[in-house]
Amino acid sequence: MTYDKFFDTITLPNGVKLSNRLMMAPMCDDSAEQGKVTEQQLSYMNSRAANVGIAVTGYAYVNDQGIQVEGQLSVSRDDDIEGLGKLAKAIKDAGAKAILQLSHAGRESGISAKYGKGVYAPTKMAFPWVDYEIKEMTEQDIHDLINDFKEATRRAILAGYDGIEIHNCNHDILQQFFSSYSNLRDDEWGGNHSNRMKLPLAVLKGVKEVIEEFGNKNFILGWRVSPEEIHGENVGYLVEDMLDQTKHALTIGIDYLNVSLSGGLNYDLDAKPRDHDETFAELFKKLTQDKCLLFIGAHVHHPEDIMKVIDQTDGVYIGRALLLDPEFTRKIRENRAGEIVAAISHKQLAQIGLPDRLVKNYSSPDNYQKGIPLPGL
Ligand SMILES: Cc1cc2nc3c(=O)[nH]c(=O)nc-3n(C[C@H](O)[C@H](O)[C@H](O)COP(=O)(O)O)c2cc1C
Repeated sequence: MTYDKFFDTITLPNGVKLSNRLMMAPMCDDSAEQGKVTEQQLSYMNSRAANVGIAVTGYAYVNDQGIQVEGQLSVSRDDDIEGLGKLAKAIKDAGAKAILQLSHAGRESGISAKYGKGVYAPTKMAFPWVDYEIKEMTEQDIHDLINDFKEATRRAILAGYDGIEIHNCNHDILQQFFSSYSNLRDDEWGGNHSNRMKLPLAVLKGVKEVIEEFGNKNFILGWRVSPEEIHGENVGYLVEDMLDQTKHALTIGIDYLNVSLSGGLNYDLDAKPRDHDETFAELFKKLTQDKCLLFIGAHVHHPEDIMKVIDQTDGVYIGRALLLDPEFTRKIRENRAGEIVAAISHKQLAQIGLPDRLVKNYSSPDNYQKGIPLPGL
């Protein structure tokens, strides 16, 4: 079978070309020191980015109240720019576009809680898995947060990134605002569907303004969404709601849409929403058409997995497969797909250039990344 289509050049709406249809999925490697980039991250990202046309970093927090895990990148202060610049260079040197993912974990900011930085969320309410105090955001907190995303964008530009991706997914604060489960506010930032999407869209507009102020037409604006939020009885929003939010995001203008099928969902690549005949990929492609590029992924470990959706999307994101095999794409190009490593032992994991902290954390599967385990461990 030929996989030539994976290696087509594709063009973003701003005119920037990606050398192939493969994206390195954002994956936090837990290896920053106090938010600062470390040497191990540079060599690791350089080796993995060589597989793709566009590589997204793990999520970087935009302020101290939004830190979810130890070892997360910071883009919250100007003195982060130097290290972030080295990371951008490591990715670009590998031939990929370098994208910094910007995030705020809201109520999920366990590390901010641990270090006494304070945690806030749209609504003060109890969550069974949260054992720290959560404050309800004031109007001022909301405006400051929008500004923090804008400042983070400015830093990403100064650090030399090709673009940013907004983490409007995986239960981060922007999703917490959009969700009718976690946003019970009765002001203009909560209540009905349009009020609940106001914050994500205000952040998008804000970062877009910063990009325009800098006047770099080549800067890429990516937008990552979780297509629905359904946990048993608790429905935060349905795919129709997210399609509508995305329609508004397309009006503001994004270069690509990254539809996350993980982050509590753990769907298959070709999953369909409940009561739908079309896959998530088909539903979102119908909306984006040629307005922006669409990436989708999940559980891609072989080229056949990519084949399942490549006709319905513009590109595919690849996460864990790149952790397991730094030569994933080369093996496909060289007709050696049968040699791709798709499952791994703890011993092998320590020998493939992953940062030590990531290896260590994957060695304690009981308390780490239960939702996104590595095949074989
Ligand atoms: C170690 C690890 C860290 C992750 N960190 C992030 C992150 O920082 N931001 C994000 O949007 N998704 C994150 N994810 C989710 C991935 O982007 C991706 O959606 C998920 O791994 C499913 O794709 P895969 O099956 O190809 O791995 C992470 C996944 C893994 C395995």
